Amino acid sequence: MADKKATLNLPGEDAIELDVLSGTLGQEEIDVRSLGSKGYFTFDPGFTSTASCESKITYIDGDEGVLLHRGYPIDQLALHSNYLEVCYILLNGEAPTKEQFEEFSTIVTRHTMIHEQIHHLFRGFRRDSHPMAVMCGVTGALAAFYHDAMDVNIERHREIAAFRLLSKMPTVAAMCYKYSIGQPFVYPRNDLSYAGNFLNMMFSTPCEEYVVNPVLERAMDRILILHADHEQNASTSTVRTAGSSGANPFACIAAGIASLWGPAHGGANEACLRMLEEIKTVEHIPEFLRRAKDKNDSFRLMGFGHRVYKNYDPRATVMRETCHEVLKELGMKDDLLEVAMELEHIALNDPYFIERKLYPNVDFYSGLILKAMGIPSSMFTVIFAMARTVGWIAHWKEMHDDGIKIARPRQLYTGYDQRDFNSLTK
Ligand code: CMC
Repeated sequence: MADKKATLNLPGEDAIELDVLSGTLGQEEIDVRSLGSKGYFTFDPGFTSTASCESKITYIDGDEGVLLHRGYPIDQLALHSNYLEVCYILLNGEAPTKEQFEEFSTIVTRHTMIHEQIHHLFRGFRRDSHPMAVMCGVTGALAAFYHDAMDVNIERHREIAAFRLLSKMPTVAAMCYKYSIGQPFVYPRNDLSYAGNFLNMMFSTPCEEYVVNPVLERAMDRILILHADHEQNASTSTVRTAGSSGANPFACIAAGIASLWGPAHGGANEACLRMLEEIKTVEHIPEFLRRAKDKNDSFRLMGFGHRVYKNYDPRATVMRETCHEVLKELGMKDDLLEVAMELEHIALNDPYFIERKLYPNVDFYSGLILKAMGIPSSMFTVIFAMARTVGWIAHWKEMHDDGIKIARPRQLYTGYDQRDFNSLTK
């Protein structure tokens, strides 16, 4: 029972006392669960003021630009950990010992192959399909291949589903790319790291050896860490909502991929690079800023702004440094990086962006890194989905571990009152 109460006064009715809940960190929340039985619902489209669940996985302080996974700051994880260790932390709540980490990474590494029949499934797609469309379809189809150990009410089965998804997602992601360019699929290699294996499946061919560049491997690992989880965003909430009915985990992750695809969410990195290409040179920046500020123009500065961060996205800082490292390693000078840095500089000093607290987000620099690595922009969101899979599974598991209640929002009905039907077709 909460110590603090809020009182809701409605004209002509007795006051309603509501508990005020406190988490470990973050704002207090008014518990409105009793309102339904008293004949009222709350109205909050877009969930701008609504907590949909209790969670112990990730904490964000958007005003301070803080992101913690199980209490650990994202910059420390990005600089001193690796993606699989972050996966362990997200899924299990604590940093692993050496033995625990070795056991965990061995299991993930040993389950990277996917059912051979899935190769045929790929061939049903047009080669020019968007890789996100293919990834969404193939991930949902995994439910048809791995239906043993699939009782979501059994904890061990949920764990098996988590390992399968984590292990197989890079294989599926790389196959989406290889299929789109007409090259043969590359089987996973268990002697490589999670990121190194993904790069090898993306870029090696049967006709010549591919050696994984350690700087690019580290950059890819960092991109995966920075996208691993972000509490109750649109795609994670979608996975929770889909899972709340007891649905198959592969189908739930496919739902998350579908939600992530949109340009306001994971599709922003692809849209951001497209925008930088359109801006082309620093001289064109003022024109694009004018459009971003014009209420009659639907154009927005992609890679800028965030529902939660009203400060610099802490992931963007690491991403910017990584971008410089990768370009230096490859000996490349990207004119678009120059455009991006100048755009960031001008926008951060513009009253429109200052007043609305619009800062660069994680997607502002990630596209430039991926482009420098030779990854086409249509694959950017696929890589985001691959990285975010662990966050989706962690939330899906937590929801099941805590006991599921089907998600069923209510609405403010503004349609017709009851009326008689008289057919107009007779
Ligand atoms: N460019 C120009 N104006 C913007 C932008 C932008 N990128 N983002 C927000 N605004 C303005 C918006 O027009 C509004 O102005 P006003 O108050 O005058 O009407 C104000 O800022 C508040 O915007 P909002 O749409 O109410 O904010 P939101 O929290 O609903 O939207 C967002 C958040 C991320 C969808 C939005 O900032 C946006 O569309 N950004 C560009 C897309 C993008 O980069 N998305 C990636 C997010 S990070 C990765 C992820 O988590 O998926």
